[in-house]
Amino acid sequence: MKKVVTFGVFDYFHLGHLRLFKRCKEKGDYLIVAIHDDDHVKVNKPECDLYYTQQERMEMISEIRCVDKVIFYDQVDETIKRIDFDTLIVGPDQINPHFQAAIKYCNEHNKEVIVLPRTPNISSTDIKIYKK
Ligand code: CTP
Repeated sequence: MKKVVTFGVFDYFHLGHLRLFKRCKEKGDYLIVAIHDDDHVKVNKPECDLYYTQQERMEMISEIRCVDKVIFYDQVDETIKRIDFDTLIVGPDQINPHFQAAIKYCNEHNKEVIVLPRTPNISSTDIKIYKK
C-alpha cells in the first residue's frame, strides 16, 4: 500500500484544497493530511489571520472521502520523521526552510517527492480579503 502525505494550513477550506487531496489520492492508496497547528501557524505564517481553529479544520477535512487520516503538525521537517509514508506531496508555494529540510529528509531516506501545481485563482487569503 502506497501512503501519501501532504501538509498545509487549510484555513477556509476551498476548491484548491479539495483538488489537491483528490490529486494526492490518485498518486497512492492511502492519504494522510497533516494540518498545521494553531500555535505554529502564528509562528511560521504570521500574516495568516486564522479563521478556523485546528480542531475545526480537522473536523472538516476528516469528512472528505479521499482522506484516510488527519494529523496535526508543528514543523513539517520534525513531524515527517514520525510518519510512516512513501510519498510527500507539496505545492510550489511550500518552499520555506522547514519544507526544504523535509524534502532533504525525503531525498536522504528514499521517499518520493512530488510537486503539484496549485489550482489557479483561489486561496484562503483571497477569500478572507473578499469577506472583509
Ligand atoms: N493549494 C492548491 N491550490 C490552491 C491553494 C492551495 O493546490 N489554489 C495547495 C497548496 O499548494 C498547499 C496546500 O494547498 O499544498 C495548502 O495550502 P494553504 O497555504 O493551506 O492554502 P492557501 O489557500 O494557499 O492559503 P493562504 O492563502 O493562506 O496561503
